[in-house]
Amino acid sequence: MSSCPRITLPRPIDAHLHLRDGHALATTVAASARQFGRAVVMPNLVPALTRCQDALAYRDRILAAVPAELSFQPMMTLYLTETMPRAEIDRAHAEPDIYAVKLYPAGATTHSDAGVRHLDRVMPVLERMAELGLPLLIHGEVTDPGIDIFDREAVFIERVLIPLRQRLPELPIVLEHITTAEAVAYVQEQSGRFAATLTAHHLLHDRNDMLVGGMRPHFFCLPILKRREHRRALLAAATSGDARFFLGTDSAPHARNAKESACACAGCFTAPTALELYATAFAEAGALDHLADFASRYAAQFYGLPVDTAEMTLIAESWQVPHDLPYLDERIIPFHAGQTLAWRLEARP
Ligand code: DOR
Ligand code: ZN
Repeated sequence: MSSCPRITLPRPIDAHLHLRDGHALATTVAASARQFGRAVVMPNLVPALTRCQDALAYRDRILAAVPAELSFQPMMTLYLTETMPRAEIDRAHAEPDIYAVKLYPAGATTHSDAGVRHLDRVMPVLERMAELGLPLLIHGEVTDPGIDIFDREAVFIERVLIPLRQRLPELPIVLEHITTAEAVAYVQEQSGRFAATLTAHHLLHDRNDMLVGGMRPHFFCLPILKRREHRRALLAAATSGDARFFLGTDSAPHARNAKESACACAGCFTAPTALELYATAFAEAGALDHLADFASRYAAQFYGLPVDTAEMTLIAESWQVPHDLPYLDERIIPFHAGQTLAWRLEARP
């Protein structure tokens, strides 16, 4: 019997996850299913998942990749385009396996070209979502080339989100992977069905970790890591016991060659060690007692789902993250590769 401290929590929900498709699912689905019982799956495939039937076919491919000894429920989303018909929203609402629609401003991030250029063009669809109570998940960054990359989230709140909330106050919204003190303050002012997800990498790191002493592409993600004060604000929000802030890894796998390149892809592959990384952040804040609510309860509450009845346990025992993992015909570098983590999932060999 180990005497190490342990934390037992209901199986958590990853409220923001990229799994990719095809052979990638063998790596990505196994990694997430070891950590999470459910995950909100992003639709930024190529081509984008704009129709319910495509999202449901993708769901079947994900389920086929779940290792036999595990269970995992993918919560599907649709990719909002300027040509999406309102009828697709009605179909999504009627479909129990589709939980939300994702707004990518065109050009904001990986595979966002099919996204939205002018919000006015999607207003009829957003109005229907507000009527039906179907959540909109937002990548909250402006793409105006005149705006500095470090300011894109704060400017999005001013230019896009505040006017949108005024026009459609009933629209349920999740502001995804927030990275700034401005976003934290904005979320705290909201009432009704409004929430934000927080990644482990933004809780643990600031931009110095990416840029001082050499450029580390495995820390490059979008929205980009910000300065230290922002990380502090995010960590305070995540550990505050406020149900508007919950776990969403934004784990975004790219093969090693695509990351370690002259033009590195954005995304941190955090899924294989997600809970251990969040536990590290919560331990730093002295708030491990809030981890179960943040990881397992608040997202369930937002989506109107029961909390998982199965449990998992984290043990305060150090172990080393693998240097790399198989991915497609290449390798992938998990976040914190080769480093020692102080928390370990009980099931981990
Ligand atoms: O870093 C990111 N990677 N941010 C996103 O918004 C998309 C993601 C991806 O799909 O690679
Ligand atoms: Zn994402």
